[in-house]
Amino acid sequence: MAFPKINPTTTAAWKKLQARFEAEQHTTIAQHFDNEPERLQRFAHQWEDFYVDFSKNNVSQKALNDLLVFAEQCGLQDAISAYFGGDFINVTENRAVLHTALRSVTPTAVRVKGAAIAPGIAEVKAKMQDFSTSVIEGQWKGHTGKAITTIVNIGIGGSDLGPAMVCEALEHYRNHLKVHFVSNVEGDHVQETIAQLDPETTLFVVVSKTFTTQETMTNANTLREWLVAQLGGEAVAKHFVAVSTNIEQIKAFGIAAENIFPMNDWVGGRFSLWSTVGLSICLTVGPKHFDALLSGAGALDAHFKTAPWEKNIPVLAGLFSVWYNNFWGAASEAIIPYTQYLRSLPAYLQQGIMESNGKNVDRNGAVIGYQTGAIIWGAPGTNAQHAFFQLMHQGTKLIPADFIGFTKPLKGNKDHQNKLLANFIAQTEALMCGKDRTTVEAELNAQGKTPQEIQALAPFKVFEGNRPTTTILINQLTPYTLGALIAHYESKLFVQGVLWNIFSFDQWGVELGKQLATNVLTELEATTTSYENRHDPSTTALIQRCSKP
Ligand code: F6P
Repeated sequence: MAFPKINPTTTAAWKKLQARFEAEQHTTIAQHFDNEPERLQRFAHQWEDFYVDFSKNNVSQKALNDLLVFAEQCGLQDAISAYFGGDFINVTENRAVLHTALRSVTPTAVRVKGAAIAPGIAEVKAKMQDFSTSVIEGQWKGHTGKAITTIVNIGIGGSDLGPAMVCEALEHYRNHLKVHFVSNVEGDHVQETIAQLDPETTLFVVVSKTFTTQETMTNANTLREWLVAQLGGEAVAKHFVAVSTNIEQIKAFGIAAENIFPMNDWVGGRFSLWSTVGLSICLTVGPKHFDALLSGAGALDAHFKTAPWEKNIPVLAGLFSVWYNNFWGAASEAIIPYTQYLRSLPAYLQQGIMESNGKNVDRNGAVIGYQTGAIIWGAPGTNAQHAFFQLMHQGTKLIPADFIGFTKPLKGNKDHQNKLLANFIAQTEALMCGKDRTTVEAELNAQGKTPQEIQALAPFKVFEGNRPTTTILINQLTPYTLGALIAHYESKLFVQGVLWNIFSFDQWGVELGKQLATNVLTELEATTTSYENRHDPSTTALIQRCSKP
C-alpha cells in the first residue's frame, strides 16, 4: 500500500474548504445549532466509555462533509492501511511505525522485512511482566538482600514523559513502589533525587532507545557512581536494568544481559510507553493494569481503523484541527483535563504532537507553503480557569480547546465531583455562548448602576463567545480508558500529518541543537578562547560568561 504524497492545497477539496470558510466564517457556533436541528446527533459520538462532543466547534455540517471529502482526496485510507500494516512510513529513518502492534489483539498479521513480530512482542512482554511481578512481590532482592521499594526511571523525552505521565495518571492504581523520574541533565535534579534514595532498596531503570542521549547517559553514570560508592561495583547487577534498542551500548555500560529489556526500532520514542519503555509503569501499577492500558489503546486503534469517518473520533479531531490551523489561522490548541491526575498530559502531548508535526518540508521533499503543526499547551481545570482562561474568553486569539472530564471520581466524593463537573460543563457553554451587551446592561441595571456607569463598564463585561471546544467525557479514569485516550491523540496526530503531507515519525529538528551543544561543551571546558571566531557575538559572549567559574 503506497503512502500518499499529496500536497493538500492542490486538491479540489482544499479549494472548496477555502470557499466554505469564506462563506461561513461569520456564522457563529450558536447559529450552526439554530440552522442544524440534528447538529448534536451528527457531532456527538459515543464510543465505549467515551462521549465525544464536537458540536461546539466552528464547523457546519456542510463544512464537515467537505472535510471528509478532503480526507479522501489526501489518501487517508491508504495511509491508515500502510500505518497499521507495517509499511516503512518513517521514510527518512527507513523504518516501520508499529507501536500499534504492541497493543494489538491481532499482531500476528504484522510482519517487518518479512518476519512476524508477534512472537518477539510476546516474549519481551512476558519478560517485563515476570520481572515486574518479582520486584513487586519482593522476590527480586537488592545487593544486600533487601526487597526493592523505590524505582528511578532515568530517561528523557519519550523515555521519560510517557512513563512519568502514566505513573502520575494512574496513582490511584499504584502499588507500594515509589517512583522517581530523573530526566534533565541539570545536576541539581539528580542530587535532589539522590537525597531521597536508599541505595539498598532502589532499582534504577535506564531508558534510552539509542543509549547515546547525553542527558540520560550523564545521569545514569552519576547514579551508577553513587550506587557503587555506597554498595560497591557488584551491586550494579541487582540495582540497574536497561531498556534500549542498543544492546551493545547497554553491555558496555556494565548492565548484565539478563537485565536488558530490548525494544525495536519500529517504536518511536514518543510512542514508546507501550513497549519496554513502560517498565516503570508496569512495575508501579503491576502487569494487570499495564495490560489494561494496552488493551484500551488497542480498542481505540480498532475504532480508528474501522469506524466510518463521520463517526471516527480521531479522524474528526484531526480534520477539525487542520480546519482551524489552515483556514481559521489558529496557531495553538489547548488541552484541559479536569483532573489533577492528568496534570502532565499537556506536556506529554507536546512532545507527541509537536515533535511529530512541527515540519516545514513535505513528503516530496518540498518546502511547505502552508501551516503545519499546532502548538499544544494546557493545564488542569479548574486551576486553569484561574490562570489563563481570561485570554481564552476575552483575548484576541482563536484557541480551539479539548475539555477532558470523567463522570465518576476515583475516590468518590460527590460534592467535589459535582462542583468539578459543573465547572467543566459551564466553561464550554460560556466559551461558545458568551454574554452579549444587552444581557450585560440588564445585569448592571439590576445591580443599581447608573446609565453612565453602565455605558462605561459594559464593554469590559461582554463575552463575544464563539470560542470552539471539544468535550471528551469519559466514564472513569482507568488504565483502559487512559490507554484509549492516549491512543486517540496518537491517531489524531497521524491524521494531521497525513493531511499536511509531512513525515510525522522523524524528528530531525532536534539534532542541530544537540550537535552545537557538543561543540559548545568542548569550548566551555577548554582552557583557551579559540572559540571566539567561530560564533556570532551574542553566542561568544554567553560562552565567555559561562566559562567563568
Ligand atoms: O529529543 C529527541 C529524542 O530523540 C526524542 O525523540 C526521544 O524521545 C528522546 O530524544 C530520547 O531519546 P532516547 O530514548 O534515545 O534517549
